[in-house]
Amino acid sequence: MKIVTVDDYSEMSKFAAKIVASQVILKDNSVLGLATGDTPLQMYRELINLYNEEELDFSKITTFNLDEYYGISEDNPHSYHYYMKNNFFKFINIADSNINILDGKTKDIERECKAYDNKIAAAGGIDLQVLGIGVNGHIGFNEPDVNFEAETHLVKLDEKTVESNARFFASKEDVPTSALSMGIKTIMQSKKILLLASGPKKAEAVFKMLKEDVKRFV
Ligand code: F6R
Repeated sequence: MKIVTVDDYSEMSKFAAKIVASQVILKDNSVLGLATGDTPLQMYRELINLYNEEELDFSKITTFNLDEYYGISEDNPHSYHYYMKNNFFKFINIADSNINILDGKTKDIERECKAYDNKIAAAGGIDLQVLGIGVNGHIGFNEPDVNFEAETHLVKLDEKTVESNARFFASKEDVPTSALSMGIKTIMQSKKILLLASGPKKAEAVFKMLKEDVKRFV
């Protein structure tokens, strides 16, 4: 594990974009695992800039997003489908058929999750997974006490996560209380992981992640 500390959010975003860009340049058919939230926003903007400067080609890239709220449709502005399209995908030359995001409106959760894991495996696994981290230490929508052997699954959101995500919604009551998320096992199978954290709100979670014992609840 390599820990890189930089001066501020902007530096972090540029650094992260360089890592993702290197992956895309070195392997033009890379499989990228992507995250949403505030943290990677500027990284996506930096990648779009590199694309516009004709330094990056995403035409053979495949992506798998970490998670999606359960019960909301793709065109809902709070969905992660909407976020990815409007913050990244519509600005680059990725093929629609290479974009994978869990279906928050699925009627068959188990099948949707299994099919997602199978598709990741069939694509050869994730070459580089980008992650953020929640204020309570969640990864994807895996709360800190999860089963490390979990693959993609339905998650009941922790009260703290609902509170933290309320900033994106009109009120706390509008925040979905469950989500589909890659599990820790799925995430840990990635060949490389780039975890981004910025700002004082994340300091405790980062400290605990780096310094405290890893607990397994299986
Ligand atoms: C997003 C995700 C979440 C976020 C985390 C941090 O796809 O899976 O785990 O990475 O909630 O969110 P921000 O970046 O908004 O602080």
